[in-house]
Amino acid sequence: MADIMAAKIIGTGSYVPDQVITNDDLSEMVDTSDAWIRERTGIRARRITETGTADMAARAALKAMENAGISGDELDLIIVGTSTGDWLFPSTACEVQAAVGAGRAVCFDLSAACSGFLFSLNTAAVYLDSGAYRTALVVGADSLSKTVDWKDRSTCILFGDGAGAAVLRREESAAGTEKTRRGNSEDPAGPDSPGAPESLESGGIGPFFMGSDGNRSEYLTSPSTSLRNMFVEEKPTGYMAMNGQEVFKFAVKTVPEAIGHVLAQAGLAPDDIKYFVLHQANERIIASVAKRMKQPMEKFPVNLDRYGNTSGASIPILLDELNRKGMLRTGDRLVLSGFGAGLTWGASVVTWQASAGSI
Ligand code: ACO
Repeated sequence: MADIMAAKIIGTGSYVPDQVITNDDLSEMVDTSDAWIRERTGIRARRITETGTADMAARAALKAMENAGISGDELDLIIVGTSTGDWLFPSTACEVQAAVGAGRAVCFDLSAACSGFLFSLNTAAVYLDSGAYRTALVVGADSLSKTVDWKDRSTCILFGDGAGAAVLRREESAAGTEKTRRGNSEDPAGPDSPGAPESLESGGIGPFFMGSDGNRSEYLTSPSTSLRNMFVEEKPTGYMAMNGQEVFKFAVKTVPEAIGHVLAQAGLAPDDIKYFVLHQANERIIASVAKRMKQPMEKFPVNLDRYGNTSGASIPILLDELNRKGMLRTGDRLVLSGFGAGLTWGASVVTWQASAGSI
């Protein structure tokens, strides 16, 4: 009888639009400057889509599938982490399904703002590890450019559009040769620790941690585009609204805590981690996390200087860059961690395994 193995990432892909908006471009639109934006955030430029979230998601997905060496009919599950779908319905995942020819797959979107990819990755891994599905496509795609008020300098400087994707596959082996690493009642970490590992040796996704706090939802809000000016008269603009300082304080506290949690579950120390692949919101947040983890900045790759905060896309775009630059080797331990509106936050350990998709 086959034993179920942990889901692994077997391919990655990403896409950013061609249209670039630099800090100097923005300084002609609002009262800001390249120096202010760089010093406060690390951002130099961002990309803006003309085609929308689903198109970017599909382009990233096709690249990940090519990288993994799979065709659409091999996909059982597609989850798109997005809060900026082009339509309230159909879901972006169903649009991606049509674009990549994944006629057998079940498809749905997952809304967790900038944590969208991380939550989607963990959700897909649980489905695969349960034995329900074998091959999944996970996409993080957002076009926050359509939610910001381009006259509001406190938000419009931060965001950019993009998409990133990963293909996950669960292999099966002879009984007893390998264990799953999901939590169960016998976990040393206890039943309250989802994703606690039995073994990390074989690669895969986990352990993971996800958190949410709806009591602080007012820190970061954006009305649904089609409902703007209907049910949200109390909002001053109908666009994204953000308490930047509170989000900053929340991020620098909760991200290291989430990372500490998954490292403890995995029995790993920060020194065991090759790269911390963090949500790309602000370089000062990343530097603060590095300092709290007592780790060098070299272990915290950054691309927000080129793309700004691409919300749910930032982690998979960065992961794809690491993969395509050949910076990942079998056995490398990565930590993925993000935070966003909701509030939502989380972290996952990924043990990389070279596969058909590795460069
Ligand atoms: N250009 C010039 N001046 C500006 C700009 C700008 N673009 N924006 C704000 N200012 C001014 C303010 O008006 C203020 O002026 P004052 O002192 O005269 O009142 C001054 O700069 C300082 O403003 P702060 O808001 O205190 O600036 P801060 O150092 O906190 O930086 C920032 C603001 C960059 C937004 C920071 O708070 C931050 O990055 N927070 C986290 C935001 C974040 O990560 N959001 C994404 C969450 S993920 C998701 O789910 C979408």
